[in-house]
Amino acid sequence: MSLSLNKELLETAVKAGLEAGKLLKEGIDTIYEISYKDGLNNLVTEFDKKAEEIIINIIKDKYPDHSFLAEESGDTNYIENNIRWVIDPLDGTVNYAHKLPIFSVSIAAELNGEILCGVVFQPILDELFTASLGGGAYLNGKPIKVSPVSDFNKSFLVTGFPYNVNENPDNCLDDFTNVIKRGIPVRRLGSAAVDLAYVACGRFDAFWEISLNAWDVAAGAILVKEAGGSITNYKNDNFLVNDSSLIASNGLIHNDIVNLLNRK
Ligand code: IPD
Ligand code: CA
Ligand code: CA
Repeated sequence: MSLSLNKELLETAVKAGLEAGKLLKEGIDTIYEISYKDGLNNLVTEFDKKAEEIIINIIKDKYPDHSFLAEESGDTNYIENNIRWVIDPLDGTVNYAHKLPIFSVSIAAELNGEILCGVVFQPILDELFTASLGGGAYLNGKPIKVSPVSDFNKSFLVTGFPYNVNENPDNCLDDFTNVIKRGIPVRRLGSAAVDLAYVACGRFDAFWEISLNAWDVAAGAILVKEAGGSITNYKNDNFLVNDSSLIASNGLIHNDIVNLLNRK
């Protein structure tokens, strides 16, 4: 894929991300309908659906033949060798439903598993993270890179826990306590896309989580890569967009996390 196509795709992703973010920002202080999906705390609000509609309409306007994998409407117009947009219209729904202002819009375009561009937008902070394959990673237009921290004991980390605890014996608590016992600070923000964007810009040194979906991570994954970081699954194989476990880091402490999670 050419650099110019990746950038052109990115422009559309930015347009869609900003529009959806505007709606989410206006919506958070209103009263809205919240319903439950599978799992006790897997929520969806009417804004997830509205934001997704805005994003898909903007992209379809420009690229009527492309395919979509979006959290609320699923896999549509799947065609082999076609560009597919991977969309999480509201990443951090549980936060949003509790009016906690940590959430994002996550949009990526991929072709046969290769991510061509990605946008993570945090509307409350007005922070727009963008990346295109071969074109670098940016925060509000300024280049970003991962942190230079190489001593694991001095690192600052972020993780998440799956909502489907009943079906999921691997609840990650051991991983969490193993890090905490070493005195290393760990945060849980509640938006995997934000976690990845923050690794990309050096705020965190690494992020790990299991049971994620492609729409949670596709945009964040290209941000981390283009910012010079590493991204693998728990077995330390190159991360593929359908992998459900993920470790993203500045590269320098990657093996420390892999060893700690020890799923080889
Ligand atoms: C969730 C967030 C959260 C992660 C969950 C995801 P949603 O996405 O990314 O940080 O821990 O696994 O499902 O449901 O808010 O779009
Ligand atoms: Ca999500
Ligand atoms: Ca979501």
